[in-house]
Amino acid sequence: MRIPLLAGNWKMHKTGEEAAAYVRDFLPRVNGLAGIEIALCPPFTALGIVGEAVRGSAVALGAQDVFWEESGAFTGEVSPGMLVAAGCRYVIIGHSERRQYFGETDEMVNRKVLAALSRALRPIVCVGESLAERERGETEAVVARQVRAAFRQVAPEAAGEMVIAYEPIWAIGTGRNATGAEANRVIGLIRQEVAKLYPEHTGVPDRLRIQYGGSVKAENIAEFMSQPEIDGALVGGASLDPAGFATLCRVSAEAAGRRGS
Ligand code: 13P
Repeated sequence: MRIPLLAGNWKMHKTGEEAAAYVRDFLPRVNGLAGIEIALCPPFTALGIVGEAVRGSAVALGAQDVFWEESGAFTGEVSPGMLVAAGCRYVIIGHSERRQYFGETDEMVNRKVLAALSRALRPIVCVGESLAERERGETEAVVARQVRAAFRQVAPEAAGEMVIAYEPIWAIGTGRNATGAEANRVIGLIRQEVAKLYPEHTGVPDRLRIQYGGSVKAENIAEFMSQPEIDGALVGGASLDPAGFATLCRVSAEAAGRRGS
């Protein structure tokens, strides 16, 4: 059975001090929640402090990006080994904001995925269509292309450890979430696409966790968690408040309990 992952993508929010205060508040609120996994993805400058604060707890640490080289003259970049040393288990790769504002291509996403996996970091690969693509009826083609590119040269053993976040761009930060049924349908197609990439390894699509992301909040998470294909959420704005995100996690754990029973 796949354990749903609730990951908070803080984006460019919170200093180290603010992050430490968040974790002090958050951890006791989610202590003992069963049936889900929780990850916090702060900015690079707060990774160390959050990594220290969550050590020994059930909450995992994730980064928001990574470079594909291990070291060298790459001003401004951070390597997979550096993220591992900071305590990261996950790394978000190919978020639509990186694709849109920083020119990340499918090929760059794939290089980052391979580099992360080489250090046993688990990629959370973001895919999703824009509003224009959706209106042109291209959702399935766009998402399938992004998935195929991200998994290029990924060995089957590693592929099952990956996480995909289906984040339709029109739903990010807009308050306009996809419906549970819509997200479930696209996520089902993503799983089929991955299955086609690993025809000899049926365990890969079975193990692969696929999240929904885009205007997820405590009030709508149950709708996503009740869908059979959706394995948790990548949460932006609603992860910034510790009490609010803890509520979202608690609702998710309750929904996961209903799924499992
Ligand atoms: P919001 O939850 O703020 O819509 O952001 C979603 C997102 O981009 C998470 O990576």
